[in-house]
Amino acid sequence: MRIKYTISIVFFVALVIIEKENNIISRVSDKLALKQTPQTPLQLSGASHVLLKRNGSFANLSKLAPAFMLMKRRLENYTEHQEVRPGPRKHILLLATTRTGSSFVGEFFNQQGENMFYLFEPLWHVERMLTLETGGTNATAAARAYRDVLQQLFLCDFSLMESFIEPLPIDHVTPALFRRESSSSLCEESVCSPFVKGVFERYHCRSRRCGPLNLTMASESCLQKEHRAIKSVRVRQLETLRPLAEDPRLDVKFIQLVRDPRAVLASRMVAFAAKYKHWKQWAMDGDVPIDDDEVRKLKGNCDNIRMSAEVGLRQPPWLRRRYMLVRYEDIARFPMRKAAEMYRFSGIPFTPQVKTWILKNTQASKEVSGVYSTQKNSSEQVEKWRFSIPFKIAQVVQRVCGPTLNLFGYKLVNSEDMLTDKSISLIEEKVFNFI
Ligand SMILES: *[C@@H]1O[C@H](CO)[C@@H](O)[C@H](O)[C@H]1NC(C)=O
Ligand SMILES: *[C@@H]1O[C@H](CO)[C@@H](O)[C@H](O)[C@H]1NC(C)=O
Ligand SMILES: *[C@@H]1O[C@H](CO)[C@@H](O)[C@H](O)[C@H]1NC(C)=O
Ligand SMILES: *[C@@H]1O[C@H](CO)[C@@H](O)[C@H](O)[C@H]1NC(C)=O
Ligand SMILES: *[C@@H]1O[C@H](CO)[C@@H](O)[C@H](O)[C@H]1NC(C)=O
Ligand SMILES: *[C@@H]1O[C@H](CO)[C@@H](O)[C@H](O)[C@H]1NC(C)=O
Repeated sequence: MRIKYTISIVFFVALVIIEKENNIISRVSDKLALKQTPQTPLQLSGASHVLLKRNGSFANLSKLAPAFMLMKRRLENYTEHQEVRPGPRKHILLLATTRTGSSFVGEFFNQQGENMFYLFEPLWHVERMLTLETGGTNATAAARAYRDVLQQLFLCDFSLMESFIEPLPIDHVTPALFRRESSSSLCEESVCSPFVKGVFERYHCRSRRCGPLNLTMASESCLQKEHRAIKSVRVRQLETLRPLAEDPRLDVKFIQLVRDPRAVLASRMVAFAAKYKHWKQWAMDGDVPIDDDEVRKLKGNCDNIRMSAEVGLRQPPWLRRRYMLVRYEDIARFPMRKAAEMYRFSGIPFTPQVKTWILKNTQASKEVSGVYSTQKNSSEQVEKWRFSIPFKIAQVVQRVCGPTLNLFGYKLVNSEDMLTDKSISLIEEKVFNFI
């Protein structure tokens, strides 16, 4: 009798171990979690209360309602057929903030080749349209709009984004798409309509002469591609994108790119000197107002980045195998290794084109690097900020962004000497990934 029990227990334990090895348990729990959530993955109606600013005045977004309703119906249709499994198609969302090298990292995917549909900052239009007179956005409304637009774009549907483009596209054709030329997918032969004389397109394709962007053609091309990638510096909280992770039609991989906030500020102070005049003044006077709006904004940004990363690193069921944290400093120092890791995580082949591009652009000479350039001497770039940021300012960042610096393994400095001592690395070696 006892032997029988022992055998059963051993058998059971072995089964558990094997299942764990195969991640079957977690897959099942993912599935359960998916079933437990009521099948209303999108509160689409939410965004339709948003007021759009067009021609300088506010217009009612309700004219978008038909698009929302159609999308909602399609989705409901889909969720009824629970068995829909995503194919090998991957949807990569590169999440970053400004001055973190996201254009550079975006190129890792833009250069992938014919199988990739890559979009560069499509949310630019959304943010611009939702910017209030105060200069900010309603975070709740913006988060919803970002989420819904991203979800549609991953499905090659440009209709919601179109409604945010100014001036409004005519027959789905626009000369105003932000940074079209930064997305090689939007300048391919199949998306290149005949050049039209006299139509000015600010962000025109450089690789070939094309007419204004026909979004119908873009959508058709997108549907032909195996994988899709989007880069954005506009999403504040990873948590707001949960419906994307849970959409059975998508297989989303989130890559969050972070950088030492002291370096980000130093970089911004150089790139947008006029905006940071008073920071420089504070550094000279030696006293920084504690209750300043700018300081509060810095803290808000740091907190958002940290909170998103905390959610990701905690690996809740909806994010399991979908989240990767990458530090700018690691990419700058080991670009090829980190790119390979990102590709492995994404489940997409790391093509020779990408490798060639990385080789070429991480050994580029200093002369070609401009403020917005993606070409730079990476190793040198990593440490440069330490000589351009006043120690007082570094201290302010450390005070308000302490927990963020800690989480990502950026060492605090306690003196000006330490800040500028190159023999002391401020980057702790840290492994974040669960591939
Ligand atoms: C915006 O302005 C253009 C030209 O001034 C006009 O044709 C268009 O109807 C306006 N759009 C809205 C939504 O007011
Ligand atoms: C927008 O339009 C809808 C339907 O036309 C209307 O019910 C709603 O009150 C309008 N909202 C605003 C803020 O004008
Ligand atoms: C819902 O699915 C059915 C069957 O697959 C299809 O015929 C119908 O067109 C779909 N409805 C929508 C709104 O996509
Ligand atoms: C922000 O937008 C949401 C939803 O559109 C609305 O309920 C809320 O009142 C807005 N908040 C502010 C501060 O305007
Ligand atoms: C845009 O492309 C589609 C698909 O190729 C085509 O049917 C349509 O006529 C084009 N639109 C314009 C305004 O040229
Ligand atoms: C990049 O900068 C580092 C540090 O200044 C230097 O040692 C290295 O030779 C540079 N590499 C290239 C390819 O210019």
